[in-house]
Amino acid sequence: MKKILITGGAGYIGSHTAVELVNSGFEPIIIDDLSNSNADVIDRLEEITGKRLAFYLGDCSDRGLLDKIAAEHELSGVIHFAAFKAVGESTKLPLKYYHNNVGSLLVLLDFMKDKGIKDLVFSSSCTVYGQADELPVTEETPRKDAESPYGNTKKICEDILKDFVASKPGIRVISLRYFNPIGAHPSAKIGELPSGIPSNLVPFVTQVAAGIRERVTIFGDDYDTVDGTCVRDYIHVVDLADAHVKALAFLEKQPVDSYEVFNVGTGNGNTVLEVIQTFEKVNGLKLNYQIGPRRPGDVVKIWADTQKINKVLGWYPKFTLEDSLRDSWNWEKSLRK
Ligand code: UD1
Repeated sequence: MKKILITGGAGYIGSHTAVELVNSGFEPIIIDDLSNSNADVIDRLEEITGKRLAFYLGDCSDRGLLDKIAAEHELSGVIHFAAFKAVGESTKLPLKYYHNNVGSLLVLLDFMKDKGIKDLVFSSSCTVYGQADELPVTEETPRKDAESPYGNTKKICEDILKDFVASKPGIRVISLRYFNPIGAHPSAKIGELPSGIPSNLVPFVTQVAAGIRERVTIFGDDYDTVDGTCVRDYIHVVDLADAHVKALAFLEKQPVDSYEVFNVGTGNGNTVLEVIQTFEKVNGLKLNYQIGPRRPGDVVKIWADTQKINKVLGWYPKFTLEDSLRDSWNWEKSLRK
């Protein structure tokens, strides 16, 4: 059984990916400092998969800890999720973001090269496209200047990976550019756990529906879109997790020193209003919402061209927007029990 180190494996996307890896015959080894996740997740993963996964509490830029893990497990690959992702905070504390997001990648790359660990899947983001001139965006769409230090860390990490692979370190790498992950595991045992006030749309919506927050503010309704609200490509987190498994399977067949980038989205754009109305419809409830001012830094519209990931990885999303919003709500309800 191939052992895959998952940095940030107790987090939102990492935990769902751990499940899909187990389902596909991999053995995930989790390292997480629990800075934005909870140790319970390891128990939840056991309930879902029937397996107690190896878990190391600590920072993935701690080389001593990485060496200890490598001494205890023969690793064949790494999926690097661990990163800070709060856009607003990154504008106030840019160095925190550069140290953590860029610094941890550098440590991991040295570690992989030294230990002869070949396969790396890196969590990138559609944020690298900024507001693209043409939609949908393909992997060839030019990247734009980042709107935030957070976004810049993703761009810089992509550049580091490309340069590193070009130096022929014996590593093969895929960057997955995530669109907007939402939803939760259909078991409602794992999901997103935002700390404090959520800045992302769907966790905010579910907290309003749960009565924790009074109302959702839609950030602007005067954009050039069908109903004036921004458009995103919302993808179910289990589909996104599955893309990582497909990426690893593909890497195994690639020559070393190769680097590929894939968009991971559904290929559909939905407005903020459509998300809210679909949430109300599938869950049979009314949501308190109001229109507010635009949020600085928001792109107006973006969705993915998914032909590359469909053809090359054989990956297709299985869940709809309805499924995602039902699963997000079931997860929120399970938290409130
Ligand atoms: C944001 C980041 C993105 C990052 C991702 C992960 C920005 C500009 N982009 O994506 O780089 O990878 O989070 O954390 O911050 N909305 C509301 N009301 C709310 C919350 C959101 O109307 O209370 C709207 C937003 O204006 C946007 C959509 O909902 O149109 C989605 O917002 P969000 O979930 O924050 O994701 P992004 O902004 O796309």
